[in-house]
Amino acid sequence: MAISLSQQLTRRKPIVLATDPDHPEHHHAGPELERTIGTFALTMFGVGATVGTGIFFVLQEAVPDAGPAVIVSFILAGVAAGLSALCYAEMASAIPVSGSTYSYAYHALGELVAMIIAACVLLEYGVSASAVAVGWSGYLNEFLEQTIGMPFPDALSYSPIPYGENTTGILNLPAVILVVLCTLLLMRGAGESARANTIMVLIKLAVLVLFVIIGLTAFQVDRFDNFWASGAGGISAAAGTIFFSFIGLDAVSTAGEEVKDPQKALPRALMAALVIVISVYVLVALAGIGAQPLEQFSSDQQQSAGLAVILENITGNAFAGTVLAAGAVISIFSVTLVTLYGQTRILFAMGRDRMLPDKFAEVSPKTLTPVFNTIFVGVVVALIAGFVPSDYLWDTVSIGTLMAFSVVALGVIVLRRTRPELHRPFKVPGYPLTPILTIIVCGTVLHGLAAITWLIFGVWLAIVLAFYFFWGRHHSRLGARDTEAAGVVGRDAE
Ligand code: ALA
Repeated sequence: MAISLSQQLTRRKPIVLATDPDHPEHHHAGPELERTIGTFALTMFGVGATVGTGIFFVLQEAVPDAGPAVIVSFILAGVAAGLSALCYAEMASAIPVSGSTYSYAYHALGELVAMIIAACVLLEYGVSASAVAVGWSGYLNEFLEQTIGMPFPDALSYSPIPYGENTTGILNLPAVILVVLCTLLLMRGAGESARANTIMVLIKLAVLVLFVIIGLTAFQVDRFDNFWASGAGGISAAAGTIFFSFIGLDAVSTAGEEVKDPQKALPRALMAALVIVISVYVLVALAGIGAQPLEQFSSDQQQSAGLAVILENITGNAFAGTVLAAGAVISIFSVTLVTLYGQTRILFAMGRDRMLPDKFAEVSPKTLTPVFNTIFVGVVVALIAGFVPSDYLWDTVSIGTLMAFSVVALGVIVLRRTRPELHRPFKVPGYPLTPILTIIVCGTVLHGLAAITWLIFGVWLAIVLAFYFFWGRHHSRLGARDTEAAGVVGRDAE
């Protein structure tokens, strides 16, 4: 009995495969990923992927819009990010596997939607890792300029593709070096990568706490006068700008198969990371506004130096600013590391489902990491980072991320209806309002994206779907099982 096209497109992975991590169906031939990551290291994954460029520089852009009420904008953006984090926490507790959004969609919404989401998360993680690496290159050069007065030459700091008035070069070498370093670390082991990430996260949090402490020494309450002067429009515009700084928490959910006690650890780490990130961001905003006159926040004025300039103005010397610049360099290193990690684990899940060639799910017996997959991701991300300016990349990252967030929220609703009995150690509070609000918030931001971004997304989606129609649906592991079952039924009937 042949399987029809609509059966192929809507087939869903049975959840039994995921709820029991030791279920034989869950595994494939050869070595497996290793459970080495505890709740603390996992929380640091979430913080590591989230606290990056944004907080070091966003005040200069957001304060002119919202004034001192930027504190409210931070809380609003945090709540918006928190809504989707809650949805991720429920899905991760019910389906603690490595593929994050892709796997949730495969279980809840079927194979075609899973493939569409795979296209989105490739933008969310792969392209974002490239864009972050390009940003890092700029900050590294600034840091080198400040400390030793010798940045990389322009020819080796910029991509050859022009964007507006931006400088062009031959290759963005620092961005490529960063991706190569992260790739080597990830190949060594998930545990090693998690440890390195934890150290970097503790350093970046310490640097931000240092900013708060020094900022508080110059704190003046009257800087909060006329708190609401910018009105609701200014506050929400600033929240839109700030939202970017909260992206990354969902990277926690890509570690499902390398975490000890995943059903508990995943939601705990997601929630803990969210609380840490919101608290640190609000404190930084409070200290920054209290320490520097409002009119000095401007995206034109030394915008690229962000918090470092505020510290220099307070202390009157460059040392504290240099420490902060070093913090930004370390900070973005760990964002790249965790984002690359997330991408490899999503491709791993796809390889195991045979939606991609088996090779992507192959685990090295020595390091217990998917080595081929990691090198593949490293090479592609390094090429994009080396040759494409980040301005072309960020909007496509937003579209992928927001689509992924919406689908996870939709998945929560669908699974609550189709599988009410499923064991969920964590449940979204305020159901069904929370997932519905998540979809509305994401939909609003998606609606505002430029037509060209949608066009790029459409072309990318068409490429991924063509791959699925010509290759994936014929090789799908689920499909092979269905065909076998249909064959057995057919034979039995004869
Ligand atoms: N949230 C990340 C950052 O701020 C993307 O860099």
